[in-house]
Parts: sequence; C-alpha cells; structure tokens
Amino acid sequence: MTAVTHAVTPFEGQKPGTSGLRKKTRVFMQPGYLEAFVQSTFDAIGGVADKVLVIGGDGRYFNAEAIQTILRMAAANGAKRAIVGQNGLLSTPAASNLIRARGADGGLILSASHNPGGIDEDFGLKYNTANGGPAPEAVTEAIFARTQTITGYRTLETADLDLSEPCTTELGETVVEIVDPVTDYAALMETLFDFGAIRDLLAGGFAVKFDAMHAVTGPYATEILERRLGAPEGTVLNGTPSVDFGKGHPDPNPIWAKPLVDMVMAEDGPDFAAASDGDGDRNMILGKGVYVTPSDSLAVLAANAHLVPGYARGLAGVARSMPTSRAADRVAQKLGIEAFETPTGWKFFGNLLDAGRATLCGEESAGTGSDHVREKDGLWAVLLWLNILAARKMSVKEIMLDHWQTYGRDYYSRHDYEAVDTEIANALMADLKDRSAHPLPEGIEDIDSFSYTDPVDGSVSHNQGMRVFFADGARAVLRLSGTGTQGATIRVYLERYVAPSGALKEDTQVALAPLVQAVEDLTRLKARTGRAAPDVMT
Ligand code: G6P
Ligand code: ZN
Repeated sequence: MTAVTHAVTPFEGQKPGTSGLRKKTRVFMQPGYLEAFVQSTFDAIGGVADKVLVIGGDGRYFNAEAIQTILRMAAANGAKRAIVGQNGLLSTPAASNLIRARGADGGLILSASHNPGGIDEDFGLKYNTANGGPAPEAVTEAIFARTQTITGYRTLETADLDLSEPCTTELGETVVEIVDPVTDYAALMETLFDFGAIRDLLAGGFAVKFDAMHAVTGPYATEILERRLGAPEGTVLNGTPSVDFGKGHPDPNPIWAKPLVDMVMAEDGPDFAAASDGDGDRNMILGKGVYVTPSDSLAVLAANAHLVPGYARGLAGVARSMPTSRAADRVAQKLGIEAFETPTGWKFFGNLLDAGRATLCGEESAGTGSDHVREKDGLWAVLLWLNILAARKMSVKEIMLDHWQTYGRDYYSRHDYEAVDTEIANALMADLKDRSAHPLPEGIEDIDSFSYTDPVDGSVSHNQGMRVFFADGARAVLRLSGTGTQGATIRVYLERYVAPSGALKEDTQVALAPLVQAVEDLTRLKARTGRAAPDVMT
C-alpha cells in the first residue's frame, strides 16, 4: 500500500468561516474538491506526520464517503493514529472532548451544523486544534492561503475501511481506532452531574422529551437519558440519525422544532423538553407552558450551577456574545464574578476558557457550554438543567419566575430579515454607524460599533455589530449574519429590562413593541428593505 500524489488545481472559495468550510454537498462532491481542502488543512498545520487526529461527523449525506477519503489521506500523509467514531459519527462536543481526553493534535469534524442535509443541501468540514476548539483565525487564514496554491494531494489507493464496529486496525502505517462515539462523552457527563439525583427526579414521574431531530444526538440522548438515567423508552424523539435529518431542518428553535413546542404548551405536555441540532452543539430548553430563551437559559444556569457537582466550587466567570441579553451579567454581578461580552462566534470564548477566566458561556443563537470542552454542548445544557431541576425541586416555570423576581427580566427577541439586498443592508449598517457620530435622537443615550479586545491575548476585533442604548435601559443590536447563504441577513436583537418589582409576565413581543418602533424610527429598516415584518422571530 503505497502513498500516491494526485495533481489538483486550486478551487475557488475554499475559505473556512467560523465553523469551517460550508458548501452545498454537490460542491464538496466534485472530484478533488474535498481532497484539495483536506490536503490544504494538513499542509497549513505543518503536516500530520506522527500526529494523532480525531475524525467524525454528524452523519449527514456524504459523511460516510468523506470520512474514507480523509482517512486514506491522513494515512498517506503519515498520521500516527486516527481516532474515528463508529460509523463515522461524532457529535461536535464529543469530538472536542475526544481531542482533549486523548491528547490528540487536532480533529476534523464533518458537519454543516443545523443546516439541512442531503445531496442538494449542505455539507461542511472544520478543523479543531489540540485544545478541542475551532481553529483560530490565524489557522483558518493559513488553510485558505494554502487552498489557493495547492498542486496535489497525497492518498492511499486502498479499499474503504469497515467502520461499523469498534476496533483497532491499520491503514498503511496509521493506526485507526474506531470508538463508540458515546462512551467517552457519557463518562464525562457522569463526572459533572449528579446522575443519582436526576434518576430520582425521572423515577418520580417528571416527564421529559428530547427531540434529536433525526440528527447525531439520538444515540447520545438514548444512552444517557434512557439507559443511564432510566427515562422511559420514547423519551428521545427522532433518535435515529439519518443522512437528510428526516428531510427536516435540524435547528432547535421554536420554528423548526415546532412540534416539540406545541407539545409542552399542551395541558398534558411533558414537564421538560429540549432539542439539539444536526451536530449536537445547540440546544433549546422548554418547560410545561414555557419557552426559555437562550439568553435567560445562560443566566439561570449561571445562577444555579453551584448546585451541581461539576460546578460546586463556583464559577470563575460568565461570558456571553454581545447580542445575547445582559441577563447573565446581572447574575455575574451578584455572584461577584467576571462577566465578558464577546463578539458572535464560539471561538471567541476559547481564550477565556483556556485561561480559566470563564466557566460558563452562552450565545443567543442557542449555544451554551462550559470549560468541560471547547465547543458549545447541547446535551450538556439539558443535563445541567435537569440536575438543577432535581436539586431545586421546582418546575421550569417556577424557576423562571423566581429568577426574574430576583434579578428582574430582560424581555428578549431577535428579529431576522433574510435575503436582503446586500447593498441595502450594508448601507443601512453604514448609516447607523454614521448616526453615532452625530447628535442622537431623543431617547437614545448612545450608539456604538462593538469592538472587542481579547483580555487574554490582546487581539482586537472591530465592527462586530451596532449597539443602540436607550435612555430607559433598553438595548437594540443590529448586525449582519455571518452564516447566511443568500444576500444579507439583518439581525435585530431587542431587549428591554424590567426590574423585579415590574411586570414580569407580559408577552415578549408585546413588551418589546415600543422598542421595535423606536428601532424602525431610527433605521427605517422596514421602509428601506421593503419588508412589512421580519422573516423569523426567535
Ligand atoms: C454559528 C456559530 C455560533 C454563532 C452563530 C452566529 O452557529 O457556531 O457561535 O453564534 O453561528 O450566526 P450568525 O448567522 O448570527 O452570524
Ligand atoms: Zn451545530
């Protein structure tokens, strides 16, 4: 079995974003396309000779074929060992854990996260570094630079490996270790949470539903919730991963996981429900009759984490992305711990976690996580909630009300305008930036463009979104999505704080209506984009 080099010419646009390279599946399936990107990645990290790599993906269409290609290339490039999830499956947080637990040099994760899967949908590949987190910009820049000059890739001419059973085998000189994707992850969860207390809660009739959305968390949730924690069979819905996610959109939000939301809103609904996305890093939390916003979820988890074994010593700090509501800051202030406001994107939490400055992190885009791995972690968030519910012996609704009565409530919603003409969107943002330099309209205290200086390495990121601070304490944030695929997506993040003594039980959209109007008066967004209403409201 000798390594061969095949010639390849550079493909345009192989520029990894925050979450790696994401393209239509058919783009990835072009001859040489995946190979050119994988070889560029290997070259950009100084080669993989004698290195240990973790490889796995969310099981979407082309996952199985792509893994075989990557394995052959890793072997031909001299990797010492490849640790691969059985059947090519690894959730993103489980891959992050494996990289850390096994001291691997890095990992390749095959996923397009919450985007639909299928031959006409999306595919993706990202490289994570030895700390288990997404590659920092310097690395992704180097990968991109290499994709523009690449002339060939190395591979082995050999048949596919059978990945269907855990075992250790060889491919050329490379040891290939096929591991059960769940075992190490479940063991990590057992070190963090009081499984006994959660088991007792469930045994007492507390009804839970977890929607795996036909994606990768199915096997994880079935093992942990049903087998180890004793939840009744059927607790996990849509638990068998399929290549097209049951033709669904594996994004855990009130729109794409509507059946689950309808379930908890019903009289006879479960006490607690949750969902995760395609690759298992996002989460949505629901209780009987309530949807918990990701921003509130972070705040509640921060306020109660000390009740859980893995966080009993308290938190070092809490970090949130800038557009995430300031609810978590209020908790941090009360706890006397640091609160960080970072740009959107999980990678910005990496330094804070590595340096031990932050323990919990969260984003309004349904991501929550901690220093146990270097990715956000959907199932972990579910277990943390369950452990807190077991400790406090209250319903989700009671916990939310208690939280608001203690800290006040940050009414919060995100309004998205999708597929907006790029020029119109850019002009709208530029005008808003311009406004900040002029006298401000009445009722507005400040407008700024968010810049972030990383407190650990001092690096600066400019233009991370416009913040509008209102005199009554409300805030609006406008930014352009970095993950949209068609035109521009304008995201308007709205939040209004109400003190503990104020009205805590209003409907969110009603509570935010005056703020929506104030943003319209300021930006004329609807008029300029010709839209009557947002496409999505979270
Ligand atoms: C991905 C990243 C998240 C980030 C989100 C923002 O999901 O993993 O960390 O919050 O993108 O997406 P946006 O479309 O708002 O740029
Ligand atoms: Zn994801």
